[in-house]
Amino acid sequence: MSSEIRFLCVACIQACTVFFLVIADQTTQQGGLNVPKQVHIGFGKTTNDMIVMWSTVRNDSSVVEYHTGDNSVESVSSASGSTVYFPENSNGLQYLHRVVLTNLRPGVKYFYNVRGENRDSLSDQFSFTTPESNGKQTFMIFGDMGTMTKSLPFIVYEATGKTKYASIFHLGDIAYDLGRENGAVGDKFFSKVERMAARIPYMTIPGDHEMFQNSRNHYFHRLSNPGKDWPMQQEDLWYSVNIGKTHFICISTEVFFTNKQNIQKIMDWLVQDLEEANTHRQKYPWIIVMAHRPLYCSTDDKNEDCTKAHSVVRTHLEDMFYFYGVDLVFSGHQHMYERTWPVYKNRVLAYNYLDPRGTVHIVIGNMGNVYLTEKGSKPGGAWSSFISPSEHEMYGRLHVHNNTHIYWEVLGAQDNDLYDSRWIIQRIHGPFNKSSIFIPDPLGAAGAAWREQQEDDSNDIISLRFFYMNGDDYSHRITVLTFTVIILLFGLCFKKKILNVIRLCFVKQESLPK
Ligand SMILES: *[C@@H]1O[C@H](CO)[C@@H](O)[C@H](O)[C@H]1NC(C)=O
Ligand SMILES: *[C@@H]1O[C@H](CO)[C@@H](O)[C@H](O)[C@H]1NC(C)=O
Ligand SMILES: *[C@@H]1O[C@H](CO)[C@@H](O)[C@H](O)[C@H]1NC(C)=O
Repeated sequence: MSSEIRFLCVACIQACTVFFLVIADQTTQQGGLNVPKQVHIGFGKTTNDMIVMWSTVRNDSSVVEYHTGDNSVESVSSASGSTVYFPENSNGLQYLHRVVLTNLRPGVKYFYNVRGENRDSLSDQFSFTTPESNGKQTFMIFGDMGTMTKSLPFIVYEATGKTKYASIFHLGDIAYDLGRENGAVGDKFFSKVERMAARIPYMTIPGDHEMFQNSRNHYFHRLSNPGKDWPMQQEDLWYSVNIGKTHFICISTEVFFTNKQNIQKIMDWLVQDLEEANTHRQKYPWIIVMAHRPLYCSTDDKNEDCTKAHSVVRTHLEDMFYFYGVDLVFSGHQHMYERTWPVYKNRVLAYNYLDPRGTVHIVIGNMGNVYLTEKGSKPGGAWSSFISPSEHEMYGRLHVHNNTHIYWEVLGAQDNDLYDSRWIIQRIHGPFNKSSIFIPDPLGAAGAAWREQQEDDSNDIISLRFFYMNGDDYSHRITVLTFTVIILLFGLCFKKKILNVIRLCFVKQESLPK
């Protein structure tokens, strides 16, 4: 009997193995060794340039053939670029390709495929549409997405669906991590997102996960920033690009932590870029910054820079953003969603979004939920307007309607349920410090001083003060109170037993009478 079962099992396993071998063989044949994989695109110096990248197993040349739809052979243009051998991707595809298409026409749909010279080295055909300079534009924004993000396939589906996105912004922490398992994870990620990233410009900034030793070079090689050399260097990690009505500034906040020798470089570049952007505000009225680490956030994790009274990121950037009138800052890093009021130096400038006189901050890192869930339940200050109480994975849609109107929506990645939406109306673009009026602290100057004092003290976690006087943290006080009550009740209920134990321990045993 038992030997029969064993025989059946062995037969089953053998049949399955053969089946899988056949399938595996077919897949390799279909996607032979020379076929380009992991195709993705991103804007070049302007939106009339497109950078096309892909990977192959074998060394091959890098060519993109593109046309605008009428399939006559004469209308097909071709451009060639460069191939880089990347031995560090030892578990992945080691030949990386990059071609820049230039002088594309705005608002035109282009079809393209990539190829090399080897036999069978032709990719599928993809298409993208270059943005127009006028008219409404929609952007997809999310942070902290990896191969394990449950709703990644939904995001890919959404990006290529009904809503026409001008581009995607992935705010750092990519794949978790690009270099893990000697590149296998990075390859898996770019295969998974190919369907969208080969069609919608996929714009990125580095997060802390792209700065780890074994992932940094992967970021430098697998991606290429507008107007920068390739493979990238540390100084190529920040860039700006005008899309439609918006001047997007994409920075690396990691310079403030793991790459400090570049702080001065990025600060100089930012001042220069913002200065120039303000001279073009007629044409590009909106200035939006993309940064991995937020300037403001509400999280219980006291180690996070954004919770600190003297946050490194905020100290470096806030005055500059205020002076140059940065409308919005998007960031990830915290795996949550939060939207602030217009804020400057912890003070709210208005409890609405009508002609804000300060920057509005949005944290949207909750595609990273599977990696660490944060519910962001504790408002960090009066500046926090909305914190999502949900642990769902979410992405944002930014609709830039025209010079004055932006509509921001946050949706569940698996079901497109609406979690938050707001109009932001700005009719007086420009530096904020020319006209700001703060909403006074309800407690006056004494109140402001007290609050600052509280913030300084809250850094000092060990002090007893933290336990019962921690600013507005009522939940903390309630916890302490609850525990005190429980201990008291316990004492009351077991008074006799406790007293007995004490007596046994401390009172000398009387010698038993004979
Ligand atoms: C790839 O091929 C090109 C041209 O055939 C050659 O110049 C280059 O050295 C090759 N690269 C590697 C790493 O073999
Ligand atoms: C800008 O867009 C909003 C929303 O679509 C619209 O109400 C407003 O009239 C537009 N403004 C101009 C100047 O077109
Ligand atoms: C705004 O800030 C800049 C830079 O800090 C300063 O040069 C300028 O005088 C300020 N303007 C006003 C009106 O305070």
